[in-house]
Amino acid sequence: MAMPSQPDPRPEEETVKYEVIDGVAWVYFNRPDKRNCQSPKLNRQMGRVLNELEFRDDVQVLVLTGEGSAWSAGMDLLEYFRMNEAGGIGAVRKAQREAYSWWERLRWYEKATIGMINGWCFGGAYGPLFACDIAIASDDAQFGLSEINWAILPGGGASKVAAELMPYRKAMYHAMMGENLTGQQAAEQGLVTESVPADKLKARVQEIADNLKKKDTHALRATKWAMRRVMEMTYDNAEDYLIRTQEALNDFGGWETRKEATKQFLDEKTFKPGLGAFDKTKVAKD
Ligand code: ACO
Repeated sequence: MAMPSQPDPRPEEETVKYEVIDGVAWVYFNRPDKRNCQSPKLNRQMGRVLNELEFRDDVQVLVLTGEGSAWSAGMDLLEYFRMNEAGGIGAVRKAQREAYSWWERLRWYEKATIGMINGWCFGGAYGPLFACDIAIASDDAQFGLSEINWAILPGGGASKVAAELMPYRKAMYHAMMGENLTGQQAAEQGLVTESVPADKLKARVQEIADNLKKKDTHALRATKWAMRRVMEMTYDNAEDYLIRTQEALNDFGGWETRKEATKQFLDEKTFKPGLGAFDKTKVAKD
């Protein structure tokens, strides 16, 4: 007979690992033996790691990926569900808050974020998937709302993620059937930004990160937040919000930045906005 699964003895601080290289924080779900499913320990540790990295000057872009064959196999059926359900509603809510709070932190992160989806991505992993500004999958990654396969609904925001990102007919089929999509199919259906062969995944993510690093930090943050906000606004509200946000951006050095960028285009003719970012190192610092 198979051995019943036991709680993971891995210490809490080892459930997530990261390294910062040249402005990019590479953050790993680090429970490869458990396919990086999200236990309360992992959720608490991820919250800590994200908080620690968010305001570090040496971090401009955060990449979230998984160690081993999985990005994340969703919530931990043993440590997140079964063990907390045995503890009653208080334990259940505590575990939900530990998970949802880091997904929310990531949705509104100060820095640009890229999900590098290297493998399995199920159910509860759709929260962080949606939270990443850009999502690049390996062609052989597998995406599934597997909830229906074990008789629950896609909670923890997962239904919302599918409805938000995928065409309605595709999202409904995806949620009802519990069939997996490959990285390529996920890209075709809008769940991820694009999909590339596994051996090109890291290089492609590095390339995107390097491009993001060239953008003005404040403008980039304002842009990603604006994109998320306007999704839920009427046209008029969005138009107004974007005016106010640009005006607020001016207080983050926006006037000087634009003056410099405009000078590089109109006067010095050293760059074209249509073809890439201006040289932000030339902005006068006060
Ligand atoms: N919860 C708890 N344990 C898990 C989970 C999970 N979500 N996913 C994997 N594991 C554990 C397995 O129980 C196993 O543990 P063991 O060493 O104690 O036996 C170990 O990780 C390795 O998993 P295998 O199933 O042996 O790995 P395999 O590579 O064959 O399969 C797969 C990978 C397809 C991801 C499989 O593990 C699986 O179906 N996992 C569940 C995926 C899922 O449906 N997640 C829940 C989504 S719903 C939600 O999140 C709310």
